[in-house]
Amino acid sequence: MFSNRTNWNLESNDISLKINDLKKRGKIFFDLTVSNPTQCHFDFPSEEIIRALTSQRNLIYEPASQGLIDARKVVQQYYASRGFDIPLNRIFLTASTSEGYSFLFRLLGNPNEVVLFPEPSYPLFQFLVDINDLKMQTYKLNYNGQRWSVSASNMFTVEAEKISAIVLVNPNNPTGSLINEDDLEVVNRMASQKQAAIISDEVFLDYLFDGRMDYPSLAGNKTNLTFVLGGVSKALAMPQMKLSWIIINGPDALVNEAIARLDVIADTYLSVNAPAQNALAMWMGFQKNIRDEVMKRLESNRKYLQEKAVNGSGLTLLNSDGGWYAVCKVTSAEGASDIEETDLVLQLLENKGVFVHPGFFFDFQDSPYIVVSLLTPQTIFMQGIDRIIDYLRNL
Ligand SMILES: Cc1ncc(COP(=O)(O)O)c(C=O)c1O
Repeated sequence: MFSNRTNWNLESNDISLKINDLKKRGKIFFDLTVSNPTQCHFDFPSEEIIRALTSQRNLIYEPASQGLIDARKVVQQYYASRGFDIPLNRIFLTASTSEGYSFLFRLLGNPNEVVLFPEPSYPLFQFLVDINDLKMQTYKLNYNGQRWSVSASNMFTVEAEKISAIVLVNPNNPTGSLINEDDLEVVNRMASQKQAAIISDEVFLDYLFDGRMDYPSLAGNKTNLTFVLGGVSKALAMPQMKLSWIIINGPDALVNEAIARLDVIADTYLSVNAPAQNALAMWMGFQKNIRDEVMKRLESNRKYLQEKAVNGSGLTLLNSDGGWYAVCKVTSAEGASDIEETDLVLQLLENKGVFVHPGFFFDFQDSPYIVVSLLTPQTIFMQGIDRIIDYLRNL
């Protein structure tokens, strides 16, 4: 009855069974995985956000494959203020970044061709390639104690007859690492050699740490056909509004061909709703406030973690450039690292009421790691971290 591509193992794992059980028993716990900004108690201009949806223009249906021109102008302005001059015909709107990925996979890949993803990274990717009949392979990001970088030796040993695309997540989820010039040189060389396109997922690029206000986007990457993904789910912390974009750059002939083909894909679905497009200009007016409000939370939680994850705490915080997550290497307080990640997460839930993600969720090469969301409301975050350290001290 059903397609092979949907033959997923849909059984709950031990961790989700435990969470359901705790929820049923009404046990309150310290959820350090909350990454849904609408549940993180931010003080956003909610009335104005809603008012932006009441335009009379929402009564008109104007099918536009690339998205409404006024909304695309807002995206164009967003990039202009970050130093990138993007022609309007190189901007496509989609209902979400995930949909943007799907459109690009249909544009670029034939069944069973390979898309390269960073490892560790975000777990949704496996489903996105499965749904689009592609194959996922990974290139490793290595952490040298200071920063994560693309491993050239690993990238060039990837064996695949045809690589349709190389995905970068800039900054990456959950490592928070940016692609620097050396990394980009490796990726561009690989893309040129394999005639693969580059997809740069930049949904978190507005959230760089330590006061950085630059915007190191690949929107200006001309060496290879390059697609940049962004959207309001992170830039405006409004995942419920369902509006994202694809920016296209690269050699002109390839860009023009990509636009013509992508136009047919987008025109077939016309999935972006009018209210979100018509509201975008007003919403973007609040972008700085929203970003600053979120940034305050990220910085405050990260600072707390930096202060607490010291020698003897059992936690070592890995360096990162930005994003909504923090990654910690875990040991016992004495330094023993033979802790099994699933056991650790289950024990933290059962004994301390704290929920964190295990590193294997993101395919870290070694273990044990935990990943926490820096969006977590501060008091919950601080108590949760204290409880984790307390648990590791007593191991
Ligand atoms: C790196 C990354 N890309 C894309 C997405 C999906 O974004 P959207 O809600 O726009 O589909 C997420 C969601 O968390 C993400 O972490």
